[in-house]
Amino acid sequence: MTIPDFKLERYFAQYEFKVKYLLSASDCESLSLSELLALASPASRALWDELKLSYTESAGHPLLRAAIARLYQAITSAQVLVAAPEEAIFIAMQTLLQPGDHVIAISPAYQSLYEIARSLGCQVTTWPVLAGAGGWRLDLETLEASFTPRTRLLVINFPHNPTGFLPSQAEFDHILALARQRGCRVFSDEMYRLLEHDPARRLPAVCDVYERGISLSGLSKTFALPGLRLGWLAAQDQAFLERCQAYKDYTTICSSAPSEILGIIALQNAGRIAARSLDIVRQNAGLAQAFCQRHPERFTWLAPQGGSIAFPLWNGAQTVEQFCQAVLDQQGVMVVPGSIFEYPGSHFRVGLGRANFAEALGQVEAFLEGGFF
Ligand SMILES: Cc1ncc(COP(=O)(O)O)c(C=O)c1O
Repeated sequence: MTIPDFKLERYFAQYEFKVKYLLSASDCESLSLSELLALASPASRALWDELKLSYTESAGHPLLRAAIARLYQAITSAQVLVAAPEEAIFIAMQTLLQPGDHVIAISPAYQSLYEIARSLGCQVTTWPVLAGAGGWRLDLETLEASFTPRTRLLVINFPHNPTGFLPSQAEFDHILALARQRGCRVFSDEMYRLLEHDPARRLPAVCDVYERGISLSGLSKTFALPGLRLGWLAAQDQAFLERCQAYKDYTTICSSAPSEILGIIALQNAGRIAARSLDIVRQNAGLAQAFCQRHPERFTWLAPQGGSIAFPLWNGAQTVEQFCQAVLDQQGVMVVPGSIFEYPGSHFRVGLGRANFAEALGQVEAFLEGGFF
């Protein structure tokens, strides 16, 4: 299998550990080991202190799978497979798809959500999230017209990376109804779930409401623990998960033993950690909006409804790539241009999850005041 470079990851690889400010990171301010351990119950602290660094159960630690299942309504531990989030996308696509299958994938998107299917020889139709005056929207008629008799899979991602778009409950129901009518599986990337800026807008997890739905989630974004490299697939279809588990024998076999125990501690405190991330995101979204409104000749804010990212517009005379490069070179602030997501127009991604967000914005403001742009 040959696969093109993952543009976003290659971009991060160049700068992530060199620059002072990451204004486009999608994760929320990471917890430290001591902050996380301070949340442990005596029983889970004992799991940590007495941990033997052996191989672990391939499907995931039973307590971890139980804690994951508690995030859902219709899912038991047996309907959860633990894997790193990116690994879980890879395994699921390998397991679900054959050359010649047709796949509909939301766009722009985290590249692996469509690229693995393409590299497997599937025909991928992208379903665009559209920018309008009032923010982001989806066209359900376009989705309906995209299905063919060979459509095996619909790939969605809400809250959406990179726009922060969240459909309404009625739109979400309509999307699932279109898939259900055709017996089409839905792969739902829910990495940013529980970060709805208005929690009343939270959508159900697809695995809870659709028998052919697969939910992907993990600890990297909402739960502020990307370094644990822990995620999972949750689905009512256990036979599918068993095939994924067999495929995992060719990737990592099992997850890291320390990560699993730390993951159990995190999910036993899921509400508290998610609330911490949401506080940071909401505050930074307010700062970003005010910043764009202070510089209307340069930026248009397109308000996100969920997740830790936004995808505003650059209105300056130079290209958005020139803006991103200059702010990187002159202020040490990394901003990802929309072209990395193969999206037209002068968008750029803003990450709203970091504690030094105000400082990073201050650097961009200083850059603008410098008068180069
Ligand atoms: C939408 C989406 N899905 C999956 C992932 C993969 O998560 P991880 O990097 O923890 O493997 C990311 C990471 O940025 C993401 O934004």
